[in-house]
Amino acid sequence: MSDDTSTGSAGGGVEPFDAIDVIRAKRDGGTVGEKALRWMVDAYTRGYVSDAQMASFAMAVFQRGMERSEIRVLTDAMIASGERMSFANLGKKTVDKHSTGGVGDKITLPLAPLVACFGVAVPQLSGRGLGHTGGTLDKLESIPGWRAALSNEEMFSQLQGDVGAVICAAGSGLAPADKKLYALRDVTGTVEAIPLIASSIMSKKIAEGTDALVLDVKFGSGAFMQDIDRARELAQTMVALGTDSGVATTALLTDMNVPLGLAIGNANEVRESVEILAGGGPADVRELTVALAREMLTLAGHPDADVEAALDDGRAMDTWNAMIRAQDGDPDAPLPTPRETHVVTATADGVVSRMDALPFGIAAWRLGAGRARAEDQVVHAAGIDLHVKPGERVSAGQAVFTLSADDEGRFPRALAALEGAWALADDANATSAVAPLVRERITA
Ligand code: URA
Repeated sequence: MSDDTSTGSAGGGVEPFDAIDVIRAKRDGGTVGEKALRWMVDAYTRGYVSDAQMASFAMAVFQRGMERSEIRVLTDAMIASGERMSFANLGKKTVDKHSTGGVGDKITLPLAPLVACFGVAVPQLSGRGLGHTGGTLDKLESIPGWRAALSNEEMFSQLQGDVGAVICAAGSGLAPADKKLYALRDVTGTVEAIPLIASSIMSKKIAEGTDALVLDVKFGSGAFMQDIDRARELAQTMVALGTDSGVATTALLTDMNVPLGLAIGNANEVRESVEILAGGGPADVRELTVALAREMLTLAGHPDADVEAALDDGRAMDTWNAMIRAQDGDPDAPLPTPRETHVVTATADGVVSRMDALPFGIAAWRLGAGRARAEDQVVHAAGIDLHVKPGERVSAGQAVFTLSADDEGRFPRALAALEGAWALADDANATSAVAPLVRERITA
């Protein structure tokens, strides 16, 4: 559909396009022209195009895809629906990280202070969890006193001063069109479309005004994209969008078939992040934290930064403590502990050959660590602690994982989600079970 098919003029309150033409054009596999696409986004944000029409358009995009040029226009139209921030006066380079979401993914917590301790500003505008993937703000809110809502002035002064890192709630002014469209996609089965995910994520990141961006694009059972080829296509699309908008962007493709680390929940993920900042913690969490920190620091002009040393000598921990205190949190206060626990043990000797991320994420959610509706409260102490990971040996009767909740009535549904989610094998079959975590690096 070209822009010439307009049915009126933009002046005098007459709408220049009809939503039905735009929907039909995409439904039939056509390309939607720039003006028509910009109008569709703007008219939807204003409420002229209805939810039913936009849902139909989103489904057409899901089925038919979009040209790169259309994805660029869609992204730009969503940026134009709200404010654009700028860190130009900060006097430091800014670099941000975005993960497409996974189970046990707490990497933002140790990563932001780790990168900031090299003098780079790290603005992490984050969200809350919905469904089986956790939210960074929910995790940090386990820390007594910690505050997610900051004014723009507070955010700037935290970035400019010695702390250098901020993790806070994204204001509602960034890409409001995406906010409306994402909520609609969530209830109309149109989330997993590459053009829609790419434009949704990148519109917010470009509007935020960061100089550089590293994307952690996940594939596997606990990710939006089940297979690596689709994850690669998503990563390439987002890297191109960022680069074309002047944001230095790279991506890592990382495995999300197995939960990341040993903790899935909120308070327990904070505990594990602090272990990483103390130079310890699970090997996979450290590996990904270090890999993403290197990417971010390379884009910010510090390719030789010794990130492992900053984890081991306490510099990253000092920045973490300062970052938590700057947002009224007490990094030394005890974290919430659960009222009820339930331990699952191995029924035989063997080696753990499989732990599927998705059912573990769903089980943690059912325990109260996540929310089903945006207005629900999470239970900070709820979640799952794994005691072993794939490739590790267990004996009959040994604890494999522990479920935590505030009410033992939550255990049966969590256990139902975990039926068949993990397996034991003999040694010979299990050695190939441990796949590399970081698979590919995608650049412009
Ligand atoms: N995260 C987003 O912000 N948008 C999507 O579409 C998917 C994940």
